[in-house]
Amino acid sequence: MLILKVRAYFPIRPRCTLRLSLHRSYLHPVRSFTVTPISDYHKMDAVTITNDPSLPTSAAQDAGKIDHQKSSNKIQVASHNQYTTPRLLSSEVDPNPMIQFQKWLSSALHPQEGQPEVHEPEAMTICTSSPTGVPSARVVLLKQADDTGFVFYTNYNSRKSRELASNPYASIAIYWRELSRSVRVVGKAEKVSREESMEYFDLRPRGSQIGAWASRQSEVLEDEHVLEDRVKAIEKKFEGRKVECPEFWGGWRIVPFEVEFWSGQPSRLHDRLRYTRAEGDSQSLWKIDRLSP
Ligand SMILES: Cc1cc2nc3c(=O)[nH]c(=O)nc-3n(C[C@H](O)[C@H](O)[C@H](O)COP(=O)(O)O)c2cc1C
Repeated sequence: MLILKVRAYFPIRPRCTLRLSLHRSYLHPVRSFTVTPISDYHKMDAVTITNDPSLPTSAAQDAGKIDHQKSSNKIQVASHNQYTTPRLLSSEVDPNPMIQFQKWLSSALHPQEGQPEVHEPEAMTICTSSPTGVPSARVVLLKQADDTGFVFYTNYNSRKSRELASNPYASIAIYWRELSRSVRVVGKAEKVSREESMEYFDLRPRGSQIGAWASRQSEVLEDEHVLEDRVKAIEKKFEGRKVECPEFWGGWRIVPFEVEFWSGQPSRLHDRLRYTRAEGDSQSLWKIDRLSP
């Protein structure tokens, strides 16, 4: 089950800021494996998967799209989705990638009639790396996209934040499966102002505010009760009053110097348009190149 609470407005400020204030509660059992559903945008030719039979099944599997060979512990995916998205033409895209991104995000957030619903379009994978260059990626939620970059919120003591503090270069990947569209961003991270973080924190549901205080994100927990006990202690601490934004919690803005738009096309001959400009140069025009798929 997915509970979706829409807290605010979007798209909001004309042509510059797209701010997302969705608050989802994850109360459904999480499946570890799903198979691309068939939609108007995807034409699945063949899927062959062999895996551990104890793994959860998906609707597609129930519908007979997966060949389950119980004797093997190998998962083999041999699907051949055909992507038939409208072409991505350099003559039609906006010269500013942030505006182009806002257009794509808006159409993922508000599908037109006949277009598929996109599940959690604000989810994005962000990759950071350690001072020695070891990468690590995880999913976060995009909360704002404007002229200056892509903003998400997190714990400033988490692994990702510690890595960004020591090496601010980061990369984002977003995949809107239902639209056969993807975006890659490469940029440099900076902390958003304390005022912005506090403003956003105040919009969060109280449970998430308490959770932010209770979780020492990325640290090892001795057992499952430790977190519950911390939550209780924090609830008591803030009983009857507003939960303030912790000093160790706030936003990161990824300021891009490369943004690539990918649009799935038949026979893997996808459209790719890459915008680049020099790092730290917010004045010059973006260069747009078409890349081989
Ligand atoms: C759909 C989804 C959305 C998430 N959103 C966030 C988020 O906005 N901020 C966050 O700190 N973690 C978020 N997480 C959890 C992260 O993926 C990750 O587990 C956590 O941030 C710790 O990462 P780290 O140890 O690499 O710092 C989300 C996870 C999922 C699957």
